[in-house]
Amino acid sequence: MMLQRPRRNRKSAAIRNMVQENQVSVNNLIYPLFLIEGKNKQNEVASMPGIYRLSADLLLKEIETSLNLGIKSFCLFPSLNDKLKDKKATESLNKKGLYPSTIRLIKKTFPEAVIMTDVAMDPYSSDGHDGLVKNGEIVNDETLDILAKMALVQAEAGADIIGPSDMMDGRVGFIREALDKNGFTNVSIMSYTAKYASAFYGPFRDALDSAPKFGDKKTYQMNPANSREALIEAELDTLEGADFLMVKPALSYLDVIRLLNDHSTLPIAAYNVSGEYAMVKAAAAKGWIDGDKVRDEILMSIKRAGASVILTYFAKEFAKSKKHEL
Ligand code: PBG
Repeated sequence: MMLQRPRRNRKSAAIRNMVQENQVSVNNLIYPLFLIEGKNKQNEVASMPGIYRLSADLLLKEIETSLNLGIKSFCLFPSLNDKLKDKKATESLNKKGLYPSTIRLIKKTFPEAVIMTDVAMDPYSSDGHDGLVKNGEIVNDETLDILAKMALVQAEAGADIIGPSDMMDGRVGFIREALDKNGFTNVSIMSYTAKYASAFYGPFRDALDSAPKFGDKKTYQMNPANSREALIEAELDTLEGADFLMVKPALSYLDVIRLLNDHSTLPIAAYNVSGEYAMVKAAAAKGWIDGDKVRDEILMSIKRAGASVILTYFAKEFAKSKKHEL
């Protein structure tokens, strides 16, 4: 006699659904988008099939389509011409630049869309680093000034959530103070809290042409070997005023998502990064895996690990597949 037979709770779809512990909803997703200069321009990122760098006019269309599919939140990254890049990321402070003007245009056209922006120097830096480079070093405190000014430009343009992805020490508090002093008390901060020095960012750096010109990012991004260290970052970001804590990448760091979820009362976000997307697309194109099913399983695993917010390049196709189910 067996009193417990766990298979009874798996015997039909209705019962399986009844006892299902987690759900991924489009409400949980943030869709990252790449912006380029020009009109009517779209070019696909070679290593990210289905993901395009879009000029502002086409980006608006992409946002409209996504909103109609139920995606409400977007994270915008600018891909800038090399001519505009310099050591101090000067273009990031240009209020009339491509990035702020596009944010303004999006918020004017779709006030209901949630726009998250990126704060880091790399898309604008001739060095390809997230901070200011002096004598081959990425200097922390001087970078903070630039980051805070960048955040203000983005907040003025209408950003709902500021996303510092740079990993400088103290930047969350520095940005929070600058925002509050300038009346942006309602602008949120989603901190890239535990951002690892990862090889999974390769396709993203192709998309923005933002790979470091020398060295790597190991003096500011975290060592993939560490998880307890993520708790220090989480504690600091919380004390400094972060509204969300993010773990990045997601899949090789599900344990870190779980750790932060267990130790924090703030919502946890996870960034399902470019390389994670590229691997699924490449294997699916070869017919080696069922890409749609693997996508859903991956998003579920991130949710199950404890992330209530998922930044993912799969957002649109996931939302489309959900529409068909209804
Ligand atoms: C840099 C930044 C990176 C990503 C988002 N912001 C790359 C890096 O740190 O080099 C990666 C996102 C992805 O791979 O999808 N500020």
